[in-house]
Amino acid sequence: MKIAIVGPGAMGLMLAARLKQAGAEVSLLDHRAQRAQIIDRQGVFLEHPQGEDHYAIPASAQPEILAGVDLAIICTKAYHTQEVARALRAHLGPQARALTMQNGAENVETLVDALGPERVLGGITSEGATLLGPGQVRHAGRGLTHIGPAQGPVDDFTAQVLELLLAAGFQAEASEGVQNLIWTKLVINVGINPLTAILEVPNGRLLELAPAGEVMAAAVEEAVAVGRALGVRFLHEDMLASVQQVARRTGANISSMLQDVRAKRRTEVAYINGAVVRQGEQAGVPTPVNQTLTHLVQAKEAGYLG
Ligand code: PAF
Repeated sequence: MKIAIVGPGAMGLMLAARLKQAGAEVSLLDHRAQRAQIIDRQGVFLEHPQGEDHYAIPASAQPEILAGVDLAIICTKAYHTQEVARALRAHLGPQARALTMQNGAENVETLVDALGPERVLGGITSEGATLLGPGQVRHAGRGLTHIGPAQGPVDDFTAQVLELLLAAGFQAEASEGVQNLIWTKLVINVGINPLTAILEVPNGRLLELAPAGEVMAAAVEEAVAVGRALGVRFLHEDMLASVQQVARRTGANISSMLQDVRAKRRTEVAYINGAVVRQGEQAGVPTPVNQTLTHLVQAKEAGYLG
């Protein structure tokens, strides 16, 4: 299978390396030309508990590299999805599909608007990857990966992608009802990411700070209420227990949102807690805690972005 990974961040690089190892023909698309050049010249270095591997993977900032691939896997920040969707629409072949592995609730819709529902898949993963530098990634924690088509039952194409993920060593499953997957992951990010970014603590610390636990519980309860009002069936009955379990399992991790704050980058809060607020307005479910968390993280951002 010919695959373009869009966005060589931690997740994009880790997937690129593992899929290449499994025999796929992989390339990388980056919006930053200089970084793309470095990766194109040096390849991708994957650090893992058994050592380090190196893969030669072509990288480019030219969206023309999307032509001729069977699948584009989107791993960019959620605030780039509109721009990515336009590039996919202009350059992907008519049979090619897009799989979003991004954080946030609205990426599938954006891709469906650009490509049509039959060409979009969504997925979530709890694999732990840390960006070490351009083209350099550490694959530390192993987790579960789920994918599914944007509409309808699991089809042949989704099954082929699943086979490839399994061949690449991922513990993966395919199922229908991709919104159920995406909202399950969203609620985990809703409970962990803004609090770690505001308090500047690793994920596990949230479980030791009782007042933070209260806010986490309230934010998660709101997000679950919004999801249920939209018809989402969560993968776990007790979502707060799942959020706490992820915080425990990834206890030493610095969440992606705190990594963004530390690097003085824009965060994804508008697509995580902000998405709960937007979808809550539509569903008629109040979300004051998620609104407050969104504002607090955005106030932090304003402090360094201006
Ligand atoms: O965004 C993140 O950092 C991760 O999705 C998670 C699960 C919160 C672990 O750090």
